[in-house]
Amino acid sequence: MSVAAVVLAAGKGTRMKSAIPKVLHPICGLPMIAHVVKNLREAGVGRIIVVVGPEGQEIQDLLGSEVEYVVQAEQLGTGHAVLQTEAVLKSHSGPLLVIHGDTPLYRAATLRELIKTHESSNASGTVLSVLVDDPTGYGRIIRDDEGAFAKIVEEKDASPEEASVKEINSGTYVFQCEPMFAALHQISPENAQKEYYLTDVLGIIKEQAGMVEIYTHDDHEEALGINNRVQLAAAEKILRNRIREKWMLAGVTMMDPDTTYVDAEVELEPDVVLMPFTFIEGRTKVASGSVIGPFARVRDCVVGENVAISQATVLESTLEPGCTVGPYSHIRAGCHLAEKAKVGGFCEIKNTTVGPGSKVPHLTYLGDTSVGSGVNIGAGTITCNYDGKDKHRTVIEDGAFIGSNCNLVAPVKIGAGAYVAAGSTITTDVPPGALGVARNRQRNIPDWVQRRSGKSSCQEEG
Ligand code: UD1
Ligand code: CA
Repeated sequence: MSVAAVVLAAGKGTRMKSAIPKVLHPICGLPMIAHVVKNLREAGVGRIIVVVGPEGQEIQDLLGSEVEYVVQAEQLGTGHAVLQTEAVLKSHSGPLLVIHGDTPLYRAATLRELIKTHESSNASGTVLSVLVDDPTGYGRIIRDDEGAFAKIVEEKDASPEEASVKEINSGTYVFQCEPMFAALHQISPENAQKEYYLTDVLGIIKEQAGMVEIYTHDDHEEALGINNRVQLAAAEKILRNRIREKWMLAGVTMMDPDTTYVDAEVELEPDVVLMPFTFIEGRTKVASGSVIGPFARVRDCVVGENVAISQATVLESTLEPGCTVGPYSHIRAGCHLAEKAKVGGFCEIKNTTVGPGSKVPHLTYLGDTSVGSGVNIGAGTITCNYDGKDKHRTVIEDGAFIGSNCNLVAPVKIGAGAYVAAGSTITTDVPPGALGVARNRQRNIPDWVQRRSGKSSCQEEG
């Protein structure tokens, strides 16, 4: 039977002390709630209904039409939040998974196990519990004398004896819709927080002779609920480790995993080497044989085979096989480095294509530039792409040679095979095959040094 899921994300997340909704805080480069949705999809969940607050537009903008939304106008508690989905789930007959938007660490296999336990036990509700050393902040699972489920007690309502229980409610459940909604209509906010607790539903089901199952999961890390920034950092650490292990087992070398940061959506091929202090972010893809780092940051890039990036920042760009970048260079958004292109030390390039085998070896700024193949750009070359108002393009055709320390004032074109003399400020096109020179002729003044020292010694005497 098809499984649907409700994701609770309407809470204010006050403990985060943030202007950003809690569930949009990123973990390994992906917003918390996007992890939850991804995990649900991997577990085979079909319909996903996200409960958002009145200010949930940002969440809807992020997740788009992939999921359905229900607005909880007032945040009256987790039970009240689930109740808002009654109308849209009217025709749903399969199991309903309820999960919080602030629990991003579940493995798909765990969620599948939970659903399986629920289905095979024929329970009306099944709660995922874990054992923790420090249960602070969580609801406690209270069992009866036979060890079966009795109720869940929130920390603020717990007696000292209940508070000492180390089996906690993860906030993830599977229900049958009918008994769940029936019980939701019976809960009341008579508790320490004056909220409608979803946790009370299980107690009610049990009291009314329904069956409640507990699925105790052995990895408590997966159930980590993020309420504050300390827990956010803890989740980040756990997920980073998992990502590293996944890629190392898939054939990626990490010389120092502790200082290698790989975001959740990155894709790496076997025999990629990541050196220490390296960040591979966003949706970057790196092909086999590439060596990245030390001290590199690569975000939202496509990196081909056998590319070397050392001590550089490379953003939103494509690097074809065999390129080299760095050290100490910044490749900004919109660059395309063709096969075996080189951007060496202390360069910045932006919205620029560099053709096959072309070299930008040192101390250069290229903005809004098209560089053809086999071009050599001398040290200190600057494209003057901005006139204070608009940006203009520079075109450097195949085989051109730009001498050191040139200014290319855009819009301007250097023709195929043309040369630009070192130190030139080029303001008009250089035709193919021509030499462009734009600098003052050198004049040597004979004996100038001697005459100057003669003069200064006169001054000293005077
Ligand atoms: C909840 C559980 C607790 C469990 C813990 C696990 C209840 C009453 N308590 O506590 O037993 O151990 O999760 O992490 O359920 N939300 C809404 N609307 C609301 C209130 C909350 O959508 O009116 C959403 C929040 O956005 C959040 C989730 O529900 O994603 C949980 O709310 P939160 O306030 O974090 O509950 P906890 O105090 O952590
Ligand atoms: Ca929580």
